[in-house]
Amino acid sequence: MTVGSLLAADLAIAVLTAAGWLGAGAASAARRRRLALALAAVGLLATVVRAATITALARAGWWFAAEKVLIAAPLSFAAVVVAGSRLLRPPRDVRAVAVPLLFAGYAGSAALLVTVLHGYPASAGAGLLAVAGVLAATAVSWRVLNARPSRTVSRVAVAVAVAALVTGTGLFAAPGAAPAVPHDHEYAEAARTAAEPTRRFTLTAGTATVSVSGRNVAAWAFNGQVPGPELTATVGDVLEVTLRNRDIARGVTLHWHGYDVPNSQDGVPDVTQAAVLPGQEFVYRFRADQAGTYWYHTHAVSDIGVRRGLYGVLVVRPAPVTGVDVTVPVHTLDGLPLPAPRTEPVQAGVPVRLRLINTDSTTHRYALAGTPFRVAAIDGYDLRGPTPLVDTAVLIPAGGRYDLEFPAPATPVALFVDGRAVYSTGPVSAETRGWPALDPLTYGAGSPAPWSRFDKEFTLVLDRGLDLRGLLPRYAHTVNGAADPDIPPQVVRRGDVVRFTIVNRSLVVHPWHLHGHHVLVLSRNGKPASGSPLWWDSFDVRPGDVWEVAFRADNPGVWANHCHNLAHAEAGMRLHLMYS
Ligand code: C2O
Ligand code: CU
Repeated sequence: MTVGSLLAADLAIAVLTAAGWLGAGAASAARRRRLALALAAVGLLATVVRAATITALARAGWWFAAEKVLIAAPLSFAAVVVAGSRLLRPPRDVRAVAVPLLFAGYAGSAALLVTVLHGYPASAGAGLLAVAGVLAATAVSWRVLNARPSRTVSRVAVAVAVAALVTGTGLFAAPGAAPAVPHDHEYAEAARTAAEPTRRFTLTAGTATVSVSGRNVAAWAFNGQVPGPELTATVGDVLEVTLRNRDIARGVTLHWHGYDVPNSQDGVPDVTQAAVLPGQEFVYRFRADQAGTYWYHTHAVSDIGVRRGLYGVLVVRPAPVTGVDVTVPVHTLDGLPLPAPRTEPVQAGVPVRLRLINTDSTTHRYALAGTPFRVAAIDGYDLRGPTPLVDTAVLIPAGGRYDLEFPAPATPVALFVDGRAVYSTGPVSAETRGWPALDPLTYGAGSPAPWSRFDKEFTLVLDRGLDLRGLLPRYAHTVNGAADPDIPPQVVRRGDVVRFTIVNRSLVVHPWHLHGHHVLVLSRNGKPASGSPLWWDSFDVRPGDVWEVAFRADNPGVWANHCHNLAHAEAGMRLHLMYS
């Protein structure tokens, strides 16, 4: 069982435990003896099974298990001791065991709530608050059922509650307050290339109606089109892109996803520039010195802005195109898939490069049918010794890019995205859904990692949790128990070799994305990457995954470091890397 499925199973069993005990308590209060005993058996059994899932999780990686072992397990144990012991010799009047059964139910619920709402890292405050809640609820039930107040239980509940409040102030606190991210203008000027621009573009953001598969969609668009114009350059060019905002009230910026620009050109509002408001403009300039497939998108209210259409392709080619070179930026606009399918015959023997780009917030599955192919590059970096693949799919994370290469065969080929043909050279019928997916960590020719020692190490535990710091409480996506803007920045010095350990404790995929740098994948779930070196800017950290990646801090500034499921980023899963 993978850690991800263990986590899901554990959650399901925790729900069953709480429901079983609570139901048993209610049934016994209603004197439904059989039902009460049956539900109690469910609660008891589920509790025992949960002991197994918690143990398995603890053994698979302590990260996920701390609060379960320290808080949930003792609560469950108490439930079994209190309620289980009464069940060995159930009294004739089953109502007599209602309170112990309810106690077990509250304990199970508290154990569940701690897992779902509090999470990582476990704290004494959370544990005490949970215990206080259980005792308080038990005391109330006792009064209701027996009409006879139990002073002891009430007093203990109050005492624990007070203790919880005293220590529990740390319950929802971030591990260290986050200083405001400074505007670092020191680099801003140096970053502007003095050289004359050789490629000039203007992108005007505005609301627009665009037609997708015959339907009119209200979109936000660059130059009235979705995706925006394709920006291309050849290595050695200097790009100058003027961004104008016609009427996007919440502002726009341009972020060059995967392209490691100087910090002042990175397009992150309130970090590297102010958002460009209606009527304003901002000029970006940088050198085209990194050949590869990239994309650009707004970073202001990024979740909505990108989803509505403020994105486009950026391709830097090493030399003028020979052969066929096609970009396939996949997107979902108002529920409709882009791009529109396109068919064009290609002469046999002509080299073809397909640049696959995922501009959505979730993973897409791409399958090329009709020819062997190689994955030539990922995230703008060429792979080392890629071997031919046949009938193999590739999973591209949100924000990620894969370049596929092959000589055109005499027969047609077709590229399918999630089963839909988007590009073909002729009619192909293929069922690609059953194909295995490529594991890039074992693909291509390995080479020893350039570093074995790290100057700085950071751990990022990706999770969900209750965030009570704003005006309204929210169920945030968190990093190390805190949500943006309360996640402490990661401070590095120029030249440091930095290692990130990224752990996904939640039940959903988090496509991780660091701005301004490419990270080298070291290992996933304890297994070292053995294929071609992978220099990535976007990678899927699945539930239960533990990734180790490293990079050299060689691009000074303040950089966003966030989940590229942009809804998650907006809901807290975003922090900053900054140079001291
Ligand atoms: Cu494409 Cu900050 O992201
Ligand atoms: Cu996420």
